[in-house]
Order: sequence, then C-alpha cells, then structure tokens
Amino acid sequence: MTQTIDLAVIGGTGVYRIPGLQWQHTHTLETRFGEPSGPIRIARIGSAQVAFLARHGEGHALPPHQINYRANLQALHDLGARRVLAINTVGGIGPDYGPKVLAVPDQIIDYTWGRISTLCEEPGSPVLHVDFGDPYTESLRGAVLTACADAGVPVVAGGCYGATQGPRLETKAEIARLRRDGCDLVGMTGMPEAGLARELGLSYASLCVVANWAAGCDPADAEITLEEVLANVESVSGHLLPILEHLLEA
Ligand code: HPA
Repeated sequence: MTQTIDLAVIGGTGVYRIPGLQWQHTHTLETRFGEPSGPIRIARIGSAQVAFLARHGEGHALPPHQINYRANLQALHDLGARRVLAINTVGGIGPDYGPKVLAVPDQIIDYTWGRISTLCEEPGSPVLHVDFGDPYTESLRGAVLTACADAGVPVVAGGCYGATQGPRLETKAEIARLRRDGCDLVGMTGMPEAGLARELGLSYASLCVVANWAAGCDPADAEITLEEVLANVESVSGHLLPILEHLLEA
C-alpha cells in the first residue's frame, strides 16, 4: 500500500476539501487502531502527491472527542506519508489573532481529557516517552511560513495553541484562564493529534485558521455562531492551494 506521499493534509472544521484541487483517487483504509475519520483523497500538485483527510469526516459527523486520532495518523503513515500539515480551525485569544488570521503555532497546552493520547495504550506495547518540548516540527513550521511568504499570504509566526475538550465552546472565564496560561489560540483538535504524530515519528505542523474571537475576546461581545465560523474559514480557504503549491515546490 505504501506509495510516495509528499505531504498529508488534515482538514479541520469547514475544510473538507482544498478549493482548486481535484482528487485523483481515494483510499478507504482500516488500521491497527480502527477506521480513520473517512476516505483519504489523493491529489497531485505539480509532481508531488498530496493526501487529504477530513478530520471530522466529510459531513462533519465526528465531534472532537470522538475522532479516532490514532487511526487518522496511522492511516496516513500506512499510505507512506511522513509529513503532516494539520489545518486547525480555532478561536483567537491574543490581539494578533483576530478572525480570518492564519497562524503557525509553536506551542501547545493540552486541556483535553479522556482521549486516547498515546500509541502505547494496548497491553504489551512499548512505553514511549517522546520529547515534546517543541510539539511541532520546526523544519516543517519553517517551510510552511516560507511558503506563506512566497505565496504572499499574511501569517502570524508562532503562538500557543490551547486544546480544549469541546464540543461546546468555552466560557469567558475559561478563556481568561487560557490567556493567563499564555494561550493565543484555542481549538478542540490540536491534541492528542500532535503528540501522536510525534510518537509515530511524523513531521507535523499546524496551520491555524482563526474563525472567531474566543469567548470574551470580541470587543463587540457578539455571540459565536457556526455560520460565522464557517464563513470566515471559507473566506480564507482560497489561500490553501497557493500555500501548498509553494510548500511542495520548495
Ligand atoms: N473555541 C474552541 N474551538 C474553536 C473555537 C473556539 O472559540 N472556534 C473554532 N474552534
């Protein structure tokens, strides 16, 4: 089954395809951890092969705590992918992270609970204590930032991603706590995905799409709606293909 996949992309909320990209074929896989969120679509960008998986399923059927993160990453790995770009739809906390901003975070704080967060869950599997001081792969982060610059797409370099349990959005007090902790962005799917990617030996970076101000951060104090989230993601989704083209050209 192994083929040359130059990059795997995991799409988040509102990113169920890459606008402008045509799928060439599709893999429906079962892994040692069960089924991934959906089919893995393969496309060609120049001479490169790209795999795409919608993290929540193509109809957004899976809430963040029910995603089989292990199966998703294992399936991409089984297909031959060694570099994964995670697209994460997030709320913005810090002043530089308003709606429609793209950011490539460099740190994570994990507030999730009850998710299988390691490959060594099964009895008898070797216990892994991977280094996770820098949770994203610096070389891939740098390549994504360079690709954004080459594509003329503004992006914030860095930021701390707070991973919350969901599926509900946070209270204002919870976001105030995340801000005190140093979080700039908040999302529900950054973990355990990043940790599992490290355990699997994958290069992994995140491109965050800020869809809304996190609770209590909007000066207008407007209610956060799914329509707003999806509209803001949609309005920046046209940047994805040019970023990928420059990333794969490099
Ligand atoms: N909080 C958590 N996850 C999110 C948000 C948010 O405000 N917006 C998009 N994903």
